[in-house]
Amino acid sequence: MNTQSATALAHPNIAFIKYWGNCDPDARIPANGSISMNLDGLTTRTTIIFDDSFLADQLILNDQPVSREPLVRVVNFLDTVRRMAGIQTHAQVTSENNFPMGAGIASSASAFAALSLAASRAAGLELDERQLSQLARTGSGSACRSVPGGFVEWKVDSCDEKSAAESIAPPEHWDLVDCIAIISQEHKSTGSTEGHSLAYTSPLQTARVDDAPRRLEICRNAILARDFEALAEIMEFDSNLMHAVIMTSRPPLLYWQPATIAVMQAVTDWRKHGTPACYTIDAGPNVHVISPADFSTEIRRRILEIPGVSQVLSARPGGPARFV
Ligand code: DP6
Repeated sequence: MNTQSATALAHPNIAFIKYWGNCDPDARIPANGSISMNLDGLTTRTTIIFDDSFLADQLILNDQPVSREPLVRVVNFLDTVRRMAGIQTHAQVTSENNFPMGAGIASSASAFAALSLAASRAAGLELDERQLSQLARTGSGSACRSVPGGFVEWKVDSCDEKSAAESIAPPEHWDLVDCIAIISQEHKSTGSTEGHSLAYTSPLQTARVDDAPRRLEICRNAILARDFEALAEIMEFDSNLMHAVIMTSRPPLLYWQPATIAVMQAVTDWRKHGTPACYTIDAGPNVHVISPADFSTEIRRRILEIPGVSQVLSARPGGPARFV
């Protein structure tokens, strides 16, 4: 019997400039570039075992066997790895998140980043960081940004299948904190894969994509210069722009809840009165409040006072996906 295994871990990331809409949905090649920060402390740890005796692929997530759509997505991903490695062996994938499931923190980025490392190594492939990022992208677009460390840019010049992300600054470059305001979810929201497919039904998406190089440059420069005011302005603008597309797609989607707006308003008000903080929101109701680390304890305290916020998770800039 032939068995090969590997274990890797990866962090989720929060996009400061968002990926929304694809030019090639099957290959997950995005319509526009994006910039993100990995989230230290929040971790997905994944072990894969390829074994000749397995009759099918299995996925165990937080100690529970998983079937249907999430399993299909992992099987498709493993098919890509098997094609690349020229093998046919089935695998068992065991994955654990140390952050609460159902808290609305997207785990697909850290999940596919960790799985890219573990699966490619166990399959006998030797991939460099760029190839790993490219592979992770095929599982979940934003996962390509969880492969390199720190502050990461996913550059997009054309609809290129080699599209991958690279680090623009290491985690220690800027001591920012993401205080994630968890807002209780009444309705299960539409997932991002479906959301991406609706992007171009909004007449605003073309304008959003056309303006992306400008926003990326401002964001990249703000990170490199540690210019919080410039970062805050472009981050909130980019988040609002993505949600404007989302709200004007057909059918329209609305991810925000009353508490989401309460946090957005509080954060802009704090900034107006001298506390450096800004918000960004992914495809869900939770609000990521970014600030310099020195202010994060006070900000966390203030967020917890806002009605509708059930808890606050905090994360600093995180390192790259790595083997354990
Ligand atoms: C709003 O990477 O989750 O978080 O490629 O279909 O897995 P799939 O989508 P996903 O989309 C992320 C959308 C976002 C913005 C971002 O992270 O850039």
